[in-house]
Amino acid sequence: MEKKKEIVMSGIRPTGFLHLGNYFGAVRNYVRMQEEFECYFMVADLHSLTTHPDTKELKTNVHRVLAENIACGLDPEKVALYCQSHVYETSELYLYLNMLAYKGELEKTVTFKDKVRQHPDNVNAGLLTYPVLQTADIILHRAKYVPVGKDQEQHLEMARNFANRFNHRYGEVFPEPMAFNYGDELIKVPSLDGAGKMSKSINQYATLYLSDDDNLIRKKVMKAKTDSGPTEPNSPKPDYIENIFLLMKLVSATDVVEKFESDYNNCTVRYGDLKKQLAEDMVAFISPIRERAEHIRNDEKYLRDVMEKGAEKARTSAKATMELVRQAMGLNYF
Ligand code: TRP
Repeated sequence: MEKKKEIVMSGIRPTGFLHLGNYFGAVRNYVRMQEEFECYFMVADLHSLTTHPDTKELKTNVHRVLAENIACGLDPEKVALYCQSHVYETSELYLYLNMLAYKGELEKTVTFKDKVRQHPDNVNAGLLTYPVLQTADIILHRAKYVPVGKDQEQHLEMARNFANRFNHRYGEVFPEPMAFNYGDELIKVPSLDGAGKMSKSINQYATLYLSDDDNLIRKKVMKAKTDSGPTEPNSPKPDYIENIFLLMKLVSATDVVEKFESDYNNCTVRYGDLKKQLAEDMVAFISPIRERAEHIRNDEKYLRDVMEKGAEKARTSAKATMELVRQAMGLNYF
């Protein structure tokens, strides 16, 4: 008999376009996990209501994030790819978990405090209980592994607390969810301006989006900061040069990287050529993803099928868990 696969769950925010940092930091891991685990990947549309109550753009954003993830290699046949709002069991579990979550601990959450600072006029209860909803997403499938970045570690710790509290109060239903990544491969993709990593909120011109057209990719790469080059053989690289090499390692052939490394070490490197090469390799990497994503985005029927199939898989798993939950809580009066 086939061994039952371990369960992986993660949520994707339907805000913004995917960039190269998302690709190497998250999506590529999902694509690898889909081969080894039972995966639930969800578009967190309900979470987005905590900060974006206006739903006009939601459909476009949900479609785009689905299309981009599929274009990157996520296979809706292999994983459950679904929308949070399509799985009503989430809301039920969220309600039960809210009784186990204390106001004090919720108020201490770093992301909550950030949001209060950013939007002091919209400090709603949904924002306060954001980590409770996230916990419901995860433990609804009794997931063990949650591929997320560093910024989600506190939410994961809270998810473990809420799951444990439930288990202690009502009986063992949930495994402890853990953050999971292919450790050594959690790559930070540096930004093109030599400062920090690629991110959607900081410098738009220093971030490469998977939706950028070829000329925009070239323009962004050619604008990356360089200098007049090393004067001593084998000098250490300044950060902004190191970053260009790091980006090159992600998308260029090994012999190309080696050639420019040795040019650098011999002080014969020409940064114009280096950036031209990087620009072309970026174009070759990004443009097929962009084209696939555009094609998928225009195929509403396909997207509907994906969401339906995903929701069905997610609901099957959710229903089984909720039976156990109601049983454990003593809510089975019939
Ligand atoms: N809070 C996550 C983020 O901001 C998104 C998310 C929602 C999530 N539900 C989740 C992540 C469940 C992991 C598991 O990126």
